[in-house]
Amino acid sequence: MARNGVAAASAPMLEVDGLSRHFGALAALTDVSFQVSPGEIFSVIGPNGAGKSTLFNVITGLHAPTAGRVRFRGDDITGLAPEIINRRGVAKTFQITNIFPEISVFENVRVACQSRAAVAGRLASLWRRPDVDDGVVALLDAFGLTARRDELAENLSHGEQRYLEICLALATEPTLLLLDEPTAGMTPGETRDATALIRAIVRERGLTLLLIEHDMSVVMGISDRVAVLHFGKKIAEGPPEAVRTDPSVIDAYLGGADD
Ligand SMILES: Nc1ncnc2c1ncn2[C@@H]1O[C@H](COP(=O)(O)OP(=O)(O)OP(=O)(O)O)[C@@H](O)[C@H]1O
Ligand SMILES: [Mg+2]
Repeated sequence: MARNGVAAASAPMLEVDGLSRHFGALAALTDVSFQVSPGEIFSVIGPNGAGKSTLFNVITGLHAPTAGRVRFRGDDITGLAPEIINRRGVAKTFQITNIFPEISVFENVRVACQSRAAVAGRLASLWRRPDVDDGVVALLDAFGLTARRDELAENLSHGEQRYLEICLALATEPTLLLLDEPTAGMTPGETRDATALIRAIVRERGLTLLLIEHDMSVVMGISDRVAVLHFGKKIAEGPPEAVRTDPSVIDAYLGGADD
């Protein structure tokens, strides 16, 4: 299964089982199922409007599903509140940026780290706690943002803001990280660097990654497996190369979709 030696027999980190979500008459997701193993990099791709962000929103508790279940480390988390799901170890970045523009890069990450420390029951004297600051420093360093730590977040370049977003998600110390188009708006060169960096950090921290991408080429180099959504349905799943050459996937990307 996974190329990084993840045992095929290990219990799934995430199980999505028969998930559907309707918005009125619109079926944004229809009967979508897949499983992600611990340590795996699993990507969900699909043209505009395929249901990718809706899938994330259902997994992370923002939207209740119309049907189906979501299990995280064997526990049914379907319909739990987003903050409960986050506390259990699931963190996501949003397609739209989620940073506080008018405070510094360092403070942005510290606020996120503090929320994790508070959840862990370390409420007393959080302010300027060395362990929180150490976590912030390590995250900024991993994403090459150390020199920008005192800059207001709004002054960062687009690419730096996307990195900061991932820092904020990682600050909550997730087991499962969900990234929704983390390279959106980046140049091809930035995209290559960003995907390599994301992969390295995920592997180094032993995380499981569920990655949403619009652009198929982005996921080819970093994914263990890829699933393809089209009009809310899963039309393919497998190793990147097999998915890329699947005729139904080629049709979805070339035929009719406003990609
Ligand atoms: N809150 C909502 N209310 C009504 N319709 C919605 C809502 N969220 C999503 N949709 C619709 O559901 C469908 C799937 O949208 P979704 O955002 O999940 O697609 P996507 O694959 O993430 O697309 P993109 O690549 O453009 O980000 C679209 O037709 C969208 O308009
Ligand atoms: Mg989306």
